[in-house]
Amino acid sequence: MIRVPIKLRRVTDESYDVRIGRGVAPRLTVALRKRPLAQRYILVTDSHLTRQGDALQAAFRRRGLSADLISFPAGEGSKSRRVRDEIEDGVIGLGAGRDTALVALGGGVVGDLTGFVAATFNRGIPYIQVPTTLIGMVDSAIGGKTGINHPAGKNLIGAFHQPAAVYVDVDYLKTLPDRHYVSGLAEVIKCGVIADRVLFASLETQIERILRREPDLMSHVIEACCRIKARVVMGDPRESSRRKILNFGHTIGHAIETLSGFRLAHGEAVSIGMVAEARIAARLGLLADGAVERISALCDRVGLPTAVPPAFTPAAILQVARRDKKNRLGRIVYALPIRIGAMASERGDYAITADDVLVTEILQDLRRLRPRPRGLIAAEI
Ligand SMILES: NC(=O)c1ccc[n+]([C@@H]2O[C@H](COP(=O)([O-])OP(=O)(O)OC[C@H]3O[C@@H](n4cnc5c(N)ncnc54)[C@H](O)[C@@H]3O)[C@@H](O)[C@H]2O)c1
Repeated sequence: MIRVPIKLRRVTDESYDVRIGRGVAPRLTVALRKRPLAQRYILVTDSHLTRQGDALQAAFRRRGLSADLISFPAGEGSKSRRVRDEIEDGVIGLGAGRDTALVALGGGVVGDLTGFVAATFNRGIPYIQVPTTLIGMVDSAIGGKTGINHPAGKNLIGAFHQPAAVYVDVDYLKTLPDRHYVSGLAEVIKCGVIADRVLFASLETQIERILRREPDLMSHVIEACCRIKARVVMGDPRESSRRKILNFGHTIGHAIETLSGFRLAHGEAVSIGMVAEARIAARLGLLADGAVERISALCDRVGLPTAVPPAFTPAAILQVARRDKKNRLGRIVYALPIRIGAMASERGDYAITADDVLVTEILQDLRRLRPRPRGLIAAEI
């Protein structure tokens, strides 16, 4: 055999800033005038954000920046190969090339889809994240995970592609429907559990102000979450070790979200997942019962579901969870807390296995819980 070594080191700097504040358009467009990312920009958004999309496009044009707009039907169902194709067709139809950057204006769906198109179009063009949902602001816009769903599982097709910048405008939260705002709070609670007990405690004491979406308080909450995500992603951009802690609540959560046919919002499924996985941690002797209770109570108080929808059997949940790409040798893995603010690791690995029998018992228990009236969404499934 002849050996031709190809030694590659990362040659590009993938660093970027997350900017958090009020009024994104002036800051973003001024920054792009000063330091252009591309010669032309294509804004990608969804059908619920027409007004915001038009306003941002107008702001780009006022500043003399070339900006087109592509929109697709809102909802998780659009995180599909079909819609990905449609966006690519749109981008190609607009004559875009390597001189183009995309701007994702929307929630996690817009961000994941746009990032994925940017990752592969012309073998990779830059993109900017302008998240408009709480999930986007605290989680999905940062870290470079992009992708689409497949009927066999969530996010099965994707790529790592870091945005060139993230602009968080808390004023976008004003129009976000309650259900999606509360769904985003699940990821905020997750941040507290995995890395910040002070954040968690402040959520417990300031629920009313958070539910009122007070912009200054929300800027601080979002900043705390962004700092956690930034720290974790910087230490492990490709999720080989510590980044796995971000998956707390997501093993069971993703399975439930998939089983619901995406009728449950992402954060709603993650909330149920966090309660289930906290209980798993407790049964493994990792987490105190009191901490499980605090996690469950906080999810409940903000209006997130904490019971497993009765229509989903533990066997069905485990079957979907088994397809998760993060599993090891066919065994389902979980990210589990050891206390509020810290996660368990086994020999430096944050992916913990648990016996299916034990998980089945826990899911069965959570299925017997009667969802509260405002958890109707879960009960209806
Ligand atoms: N890439 C990552 O690291 C990562 C992390 C977490 C979640 N995600 C993904 O994110 C997705 C969930 O994100 P999401 O909850 O933001 O969903 P989403 O993008 O579907 O947004 C939720 C709904 O809110 C609407 N909306 C968005 N902003 C609005 C605004 N300001 N005003 C009014 N309506 C608005 C949207 O049109 C949509 O109907 C899932 O697909 C999940 O897998 C990705």
